[in-house]
Amino acid sequence: MENRELIAKAKKAMENAYAPYSHFQVGAALLAKDGRVFTGCNVENATYGAAICAERTAVTKAVSEGAREFVKIAIVSSGGDLTPPCGICRQVLFEFMKEGQVVLWSEKEGEQVFPLLALLPLGFGSENIK
Ligand code: THU
Repeated sequence: MENRELIAKAKKAMENAYAPYSHFQVGAALLAKDGRVFTGCNVENATYGAAICAERTAVTKAVSEGAREFVKIAIVSSGGDLTPPCGICRQVLFEFMKEGQVVLWSEKEGEQVFPLLALLPLGFGSENIK
């Protein structure tokens, strides 16, 4: 799937963002190796700390539907700039997408693609648990 198609799905998912506290809407679209696409939006909470990022919504939906291997994830937001994934989301992506690509897009900056390993070198993985 082309990056622009995945970005379009992330934009659509962003429309469902539940962000009454930050007013910062985020959408993500995750391409699985089997060709399925799982989308996600951020889901905030009155306790603030219980907020779930769009990327983790997408990963959780995917894993719960039986997909565990991913090719790339597109991320967009209402902020106007590129939206790099937070540290927790990088680590969650590392679990399932070590060789994957992170596709960021904004109206202003267009598309930028990063290997996940460039955003999270030396992530903690299953091989580190002994
Ligand atoms: N957020 C995401 O959903 N993904 C990111 O990559 C960055 C931050 C959300 C969390 C929170 O709901 C809002 O954006 C402001 O931090």
